[in-house]
Amino acid sequence: MSQSAKVLIVDDEELIRMNLRMLLEDLGYSVVEAANGREGLDAFDREGPDLILADLRMPVMDGLSMIARLREKSTETPVIVVSGTGTVQHAIDSLRLGAWDYVIKPVEDVKGFEVVIERTLEKARLMKENRLYREHLEEMVRERTEELRKAHDELKLRHQEVSRLKDMLADDNRYLFSELRSVSGDEIIGSDFGLKTVIEMVQQVAPLDSPVLLLGETGTGKEVIANAIHYSSRRKDGPFIKVNCGAIPETLLDSELFGHEKGAFTGAISQKRGRFERANKGTIFLDEIGELPAQAQVRLLRVLQSKEIERVGGTTSIPVDIRIISATNRNLQETVASGRFREDLWFRLNVFPIMIPPLRQRREDIPSLVHHFIDRKTKELKLRERPVLGHGAIDRLVAYDWPGNVRELENLIERALIQRRGGGMLSFETLSAPQDPGRHEGKREARGNRTVLPLDEMTVQHIRQALEMAGGKINGPGGAAQILGLNPNTLRSRMNKLGISFGRKSLKWRLNMEY
Ligand SMILES: Nc1ncnc2c1ncn2[C@@H]1O[C@H](COP(=O)(O)OP(=O)(O)OP(=O)(O)O)[C@@H](O)[C@H]1O
Ligand SMILES: [Mg+2]
Repeated sequence: MSQSAKVLIVDDEELIRMNLRMLLEDLGYSVVEAANGREGLDAFDREGPDLILADLRMPVMDGLSMIARLREKSTETPVIVVSGTGTVQHAIDSLRLGAWDYVIKPVEDVKGFEVVIERTLEKARLMKENRLYREHLEEMVRERTEELRKAHDELKLRHQEVSRLKDMLADDNRYLFSELRSVSGDEIIGSDFGLKTVIEMVQQVAPLDSPVLLLGETGTGKEVIANAIHYSSRRKDGPFIKVNCGAIPETLLDSELFGHEKGAFTGAISQKRGRFERANKGTIFLDEIGELPAQAQVRLLRVLQSKEIERVGGTTSIPVDIRIISATNRNLQETVASGRFREDLWFRLNVFPIMIPPLRQRREDIPSLVHHFIDRKTKELKLRERPVLGHGAIDRLVAYDWPGNVRELENLIERALIQRRGGGMLSFETLSAPQDPGRHEGKREARGNRTVLPLDEMTVQHIRQALEMAGGKINGPGGAAQILGLNPNTLRSRMNKLGISFGRKSLKWRLNMEY
């Protein structure tokens, strides 16, 4: 740059200007001249020199004034004072005003002068570069800061969203954790026999959104059937939410069913969705519906009508798309008659009632249930081998009345497996004994892990299945005797011997369906 740099000479003496011009042009610089400070400022504006050589004493405007004015323009162009006065004071004044260097004239040390000029130009170039670089940096920092600020704002928003989702997940987790125990998903034993009609009804109603009311004694499998309805409906990928209406304290019921907003009441430290909201797009199972307190009955009715819920302490209505299955082991009609259950709610819930018969009315399912539970409990209890049934065990189990239904049977088998000592057989002798336990001759044999049913036990099961298929009929076309390829009298005497009841007794529950 120095070779093509433009130098402005400001001096009132023409001779000096000429000498300097020659000297500078020899060094390769281009030169502009001005005869006093005023002209110097004009030339500065017009020519934009890279360096100014300024005399001090000049007419019109002296050097110091010109330097002061230049400084006002906050220019980076370096000024070197070239003066004949040579007093220290002048040198100090001019440096204080912003001159970069001071040279005494006439210039005798040409080489030294050349060095001063080059060094000054180089320094100015570096300073300019430095300034540009700094400005560039500042611009970059500004841009990055702006980007970071935007990113930070976005992160803040995302964080809020994430923590909202986290709250929701934590809420779900708490809920699912407490519900984990009750997930069933088991196969339904007896679906081709004692529960055939129930299963047919399940198949009819599952694809619809109609409310279903499950009726049946305790332990008959109402929850199992509720599960079956949900998992064979189009809502199967949605949630299946269970509410035990009798198990939630009345004071918590509202918040449990409908949820609450943060701060809705003392202790509501975070927002919570109620079970209705969680069941959205799925099924809600209202177990023991007969236990629902009067106030909650009103609210439930409102949800059924409006298909909307409101959280406790909330102000907005939240639409919910749910299928309602309710269950009771009480005689709900009596409860309605006595005024403890609202009739309008009962009508809404009782759209499609399914009655699940007690186990004593479908004894044909007992052998399969027994084997199912022995298999399952053997696995659950991690027993080394599957226990075998002793003589007459099945008969005793089939003959017993099972007031606690399938649950009682399940518990009995679990208890028997736990209490069994030294690999003994399961005999269930403490159950009310069958009519004639001595007549069974069949022997159970176990080889390795495989067990073989005693022949009589097999026969009982087989005959019961045939009876079920024949709807209890023995004689004639489609009767049990024809199915089994036996003479009806032979079948009757076999049934007598094995203690199998006649007629439609085992199907009695079907008549109760008209409930
Ligand atoms: N048909 C079935 N096949 C296999 N297991 C069954 C069957 N029915 C019931 N169970 C089992 O019996 C137990 C009781 O069933 P469930 O809880 O469904 O009865 P419930 O009618 O809801 O009783 P409660 O009225 O006391 O609530 C459960 O462990 C269930 O898995
Ligand atoms: Mg239940």
